[in-house]
Amino acid sequence: MRIPEDVRKDIPLTQEVIYFDNTATSLTPIPVVKAMDEYYLKYRANVHRGVHKLSQMATHKYEESRKTVADFIGAKFEEIVFTKNTSESLNLVALGLEWKKGDRIVTTPYEHHSDLLPWQRVARKYGAKLEIIEGDDEGNLDLSDAEKKIKGAKLVAVQHVSNALGVIHEVEEIGKMAKEEGAIFVVDAAQSVGHMEVDVRKIHADFLAFSGHKGPLGPTGIGVLYINEEMFDIFEPPLIGGGTIEDVDLCCYKLTAPPERYEAGTPNIGGAIGLAAGIKYIEKIGLDKIEKQEHELVKRTTEGLTELEIPWYGPRNLKKHAGVVSFNVPPLHPHDVAAILDEHNIMVRSGHHCALPVMKRLGINGTVRASFHVYNSIEEVETFLGVMEELVKSLR
Ligand code: ALA
Repeated sequence: MRIPEDVRKDIPLTQEVIYFDNTATSLTPIPVVKAMDEYYLKYRANVHRGVHKLSQMATHKYEESRKTVADFIGAKFEEIVFTKNTSESLNLVALGLEWKKGDRIVTTPYEHHSDLLPWQRVARKYGAKLEIIEGDDEGNLDLSDAEKKIKGAKLVAVQHVSNALGVIHEVEEIGKMAKEEGAIFVVDAAQSVGHMEVDVRKIHADFLAFSGHKGPLGPTGIGVLYINEEMFDIFEPPLIGGGTIEDVDLCCYKLTAPPERYEAGTPNIGGAIGLAAGIKYIEKIGLDKIEKQEHELVKRTTEGLTELEIPWYGPRNLKKHAGVVSFNVPPLHPHDVAAILDEHNIMVRSGHHCALPVMKRLGINGTVRASFHVYNSIEEVETFLGVMEELVKSLR
């Protein structure tokens, strides 16, 4: 496949706009839409609940999608649970584990609210202690502080890639530290899966969460919670009911085996099928090519912003910088900059990006954020930089 030309052909919206808001959600390739259409038009039925052939077909495709997801992140079939999104997955982890006073939870200062609030609630409700690993303003973690804080911890929760700063964290090293201490290791992989290699065994993850609609190019409303099989005995399903049981009496119930145990009610069948189609599409392109393209885009964007003396955030070491570039054009408000870019048909996100502690630390009310996927081109970055140049000139 030629990058990005051939991918752009499969995504009609790339002909109409410059879409730099991939951290919020990505555009959808035609094969993904087709896979979901096929479910809705040709074998629309519920899963695990019918002997008729449409239900059999839907069940087969749904479970085949689970296998696709499992293989993609190096997991076992039964370790993959479909959820709504990353936020739901992370909340489930916090709700399904047992807590007691004094349990220590270690996280970073850069987490998305969805990987912070659930732990804050556990701390408040059960008297657990939340500890934050030290790091710098670029988002780099102090690994020796991580080692100290992880000693004796019950759980360590770290984002793989920051949605606000673009920094890639050392999940493999941190996972190893967590395992050496017997701590549960939780990875928020919302901004890495589909953009770079993620292998749950390699990074020692006990739980890993991601959404279908970002990196994997799937639809919204489908997410994944990977649960290491070693957690099955201690991780109670927070939601139970339809589909989660082996037997029920009026007094009591017996849960069925994972993964069904963790999927109460009718799941998002079309979403799971769309997610698997997205993953297959990503595999066809190749993660190495995706990473390379995003790296080129980040390199040119940060170079261009530096030339224009526009402050940008995140690591200067671009090897640690994923396809997310946050910046500001003082004295303009980030929303005003985003609105100007929108007038030029360039879509970016502005605001605090659900990472208020990061913004507070940097002493800013938000950033403008350009975020990429493999279908973005260097020409688009040049157009964007041209608009930024005009904007900066008008202010000086
Ligand atoms: N968490 C997503 C973002 O960063 C929605 O935009």
